[in-house]
Amino acid sequence: MSSPILSSEEGEKPPSSHPRKWPWRVAVLANIKDESKPRPPNVPPDAYADYDSIETVHAIQAAIESEGHETRFIEANRDLPFALREYQPDICFNIAEGLGGDAREAQVPALLELMGIPYTGSRVLTNAIALDKTLTKRIWRDRRLPVAPFQEFTTGDEPLRPELKFPLFVKPAREGTGMGVDAEARVNNEAELRRRVRYVIQTYQQPALVETYLPGREFTVGQIGRPDARRYSRHPEWYDADGFHRFPILELNTTPAVTPGIYGHEAKATAIGAPGAPEYICPALLEPELARKLHHLALRAHLVLGALDISRVDIRLDAEGQPRLLEINPLPGLAPNYSDLCLMAAAEGIAYRDLILEILHLGASRWGLL
Ligand SMILES: Nc1ncnc2c1ncn2[C@@H]1O[C@H](COP(=O)(O)OP(=O)(O)OP(=O)(O)O)[C@@H](O)[C@H]1O
Ligand SMILES: [Mg+2]
Repeated sequence: MSSPILSSEEGEKPPSSHPRKWPWRVAVLANIKDESKPRPPNVPPDAYADYDSIETVHAIQAAIESEGHETRFIEANRDLPFALREYQPDICFNIAEGLGGDAREAQVPALLELMGIPYTGSRVLTNAIALDKTLTKRIWRDRRLPVAPFQEFTTGDEPLRPELKFPLFVKPAREGTGMGVDAEARVNNEAELRRRVRYVIQTYQQPALVETYLPGREFTVGQIGRPDARRYSRHPEWYDADGFHRFPILELNTTPAVTPGIYGHEAKATAIGAPGAPEYICPALLEPELARKLHHLALRAHLVLGALDISRVDIRLDAEGQPRLLEINPLPGLAPNYSDLCLMAAAEGIAYRDLILEILHLGASRWGLL
């Protein structure tokens, strides 16, 4: 098994023309949506919405195998440590969302670090913090990045802070894929707020994050790279001078969505182009000044949280038209022709295979495999 190189500082090692080991044995780690499995009692109606389909795993495997590597899909469940010990991968392509608890997206990275196995993308701390939208926003606010005023409720009885003016928006602090976000998430008065906060706390068994409702346009902004990315990339021409590639910005026009104005669980689950789906516009039609601002904020949001190689940052405009960061996804969905990041890549002619191999190579280079 390779020994991990734990730092990604530029200039730490010379570019190598001969990979240390090639081809690689790559384990693709994911949690799979399985509608046929019985659901445990008391799980929310949209539980497991962030899990992947087996088709996504197969698409990732096909991309990796097309470069000559061997792959195996391993489900990220409680047998994962044993399966990893048996397979002995050189690297894991990680898209696992984890099983539960307060930092489920960090569970697999933590296990891989414990076992000394290289893996793609962000490491433990970033995945743990990014799952928690409140902690993420506290860090961004501390670094003067623009976020809407917010407050976390753990009991539902906390007095509302005076800076939070209605309408407000209520969501589970630690979910993704629009879970717990529907038309009722927007609340207009104290009674609706209390009802919704209690619903979120009870249903999702976690704190509720309450923030100012942002009435403006919604964007999601993706990026790949790091300062030394060009050295290890299969496509050095993708990268700007700072080593990052900025994908074209995707705008979600949520007006036609099942939940108008809100890109929640149901809107996300509706097939693109079907009734009730938002309109996906990529590249978004933007004043160059606003586009620059969105790209700048997304990259700052990524760097401040210590994200690695790839992320997608969700941003909405406030009543004054100013961008406010909503959240960061260091494990963005990678369903071909469907996930936001894949739509962005496709919009500029980047093939799915190249996107997947780039994530793999950037990860591999951080762990000394390239
Ligand atoms: N403060 C807000 N004001 C208005 N709408 C909001 C606000 N916060 C969230 N939303 C809406 O709810 C959606 C889901 O919120 P958010 O992106 O925070 O959660 P998520 O479920 O983790 O998303 P993802 O699927 O990207 O992981 C947003 O895309 C947006 O449409
Ligand atoms: Mg989001």
